[in-house]
Amino acid sequence: MHVTRIIHHARQLLTLAAPPGGGPRRGAQMAEIGLIEDGALALKGEVIVAVGATAQIMADYTADELTDASDCIVLPGFVDPHTHVVWAGDRAAEFEMRIAGASYMEIMQAGGGIVSTVKATRAASVEELVAQTSRRLDRMLAHGTTTAEAKTGYGLNLDDEIKMLDAIRILDEDHAMDLTPTFLGAHAVPPEFSGRTDAYVDYLVAEVIPAVADLQYQVALTATDGGPGYTTYVPAARFCDVFCEQGVFDLAQSERILTAAADAGMALKLHVDEFAPLGGTPLAVRLGATSVDHLVSTPDDHLALLAQSNTIGVALPGTPFGLGHHEFTPARRLLDLGGALALATDLNPGTCWCESMQFIIALACRYLRLTPAEAICAATLNAAHAIGLGALVGSLEAGKQADILLLDAPDYRHLGYRFGGNLVREVIKKGRVVWTSRG
Ligand code: NIG
Ligand code: FE
Repeated sequence: MHVTRIIHHARQLLTLAAPPGGGPRRGAQMAEIGLIEDGALALKGEVIVAVGATAQIMADYTADELTDASDCIVLPGFVDPHTHVVWAGDRAAEFEMRIAGASYMEIMQAGGGIVSTVKATRAASVEELVAQTSRRLDRMLAHGTTTAEAKTGYGLNLDDEIKMLDAIRILDEDHAMDLTPTFLGAHAVPPEFSGRTDAYVDYLVAEVIPAVADLQYQVALTATDGGPGYTTYVPAARFCDVFCEQGVFDLAQSERILTAAADAGMALKLHVDEFAPLGGTPLAVRLGATSVDHLVSTPDDHLALLAQSNTIGVALPGTPFGLGHHEFTPARRLLDLGGALALATDLNPGTCWCESMQFIIALACRYLRLTPAEAICAATLNAAHAIGLGALVGSLEAGKQADILLLDAPDYRHLGYRFGGNLVREVIKKGRVVWTSRG
């Protein structure tokens, strides 16, 4: 059979193939990454058609283009399932205040923190948001992220939240990276509602969530077979998320917002236990959330509940690192209990301006005590499931989208082992080379 591209002679090819029965990998399954020595892939357009040993693939297929991956590790593109990548401005001054001893929550309560980024984001046009965010997406892509979730949450009123969704839509279409949009109107209480959190929740539930849930964007698709293109509609926000935290939104407020969003047809995510354990994990499990994120101060019985559910736990080790804290997600415990874990950057201007999933893997190996294999699974297959895209991306299997990384490394464990640099030699997105280290 003739295909568009064959990638051959990978020193190690990691398929991250789904476990029997599909879904994310849980507990002990996360160590199985589907390693093929001297591996190869056949791609047809945007899709993987075959994965196997080089000798077999070369015998079965011919191709327009050949990519020699000898001396390389080949694996799926990273999926970053929790980012606040769209914002304007920066908070470098706040970083200095924290070094001098102020805490993240003290700065937030003094009117800084998220609200200072809200002011800058409200003042920016869609074009400015797209321009500033696009540079961050470029660096994420160069470090191997091919799909990311993107949250709103720096607009905090209907018009500015929609402006953020518009920016995400434009970037998803114009940038090589694919973005999955999440509505996070409950990220903080905006200044005009200061001291009136319940009134802000009323406003979100009565006005903003119904409008966001109804909003769809028209997308023009070109047919891959050369036939006529067609038009389709995509929801402006696939997920609704809430920052459930002491001094932000409490458990009852979080439940009201998430229930309204679920009734309006959105899937759910929840920020929980970043600082104080309010009981967000059992709430997320009870509401059938796709993921529950942060999980730093989570009590053991809540972890056990999570491990028995279909909700994926998302650890964000860049955030405690970024804050100079020493407490991290008890990920080892979640795996021992049989849970499914994903990793993400939490990329945001306050706690974690990190654009590299490679660095997150390095942190996860040290502070969450994951092996490189477990961390890679958490950053690919399980991360894809954490944003509802497990059937499309996150593994190298026939029928999946051809989102592939070539790493300049002799062994896959160099991911985790090495940090602070970039091991990526080449990024392939939907079958096309979109970034190479050779420029
Ligand atoms: O995940 N927790 C809430 N949101 C971010 C911080 C966002 C910001 O400070 O701008 C987080 O840490
Ligand atoms: Fe976050």
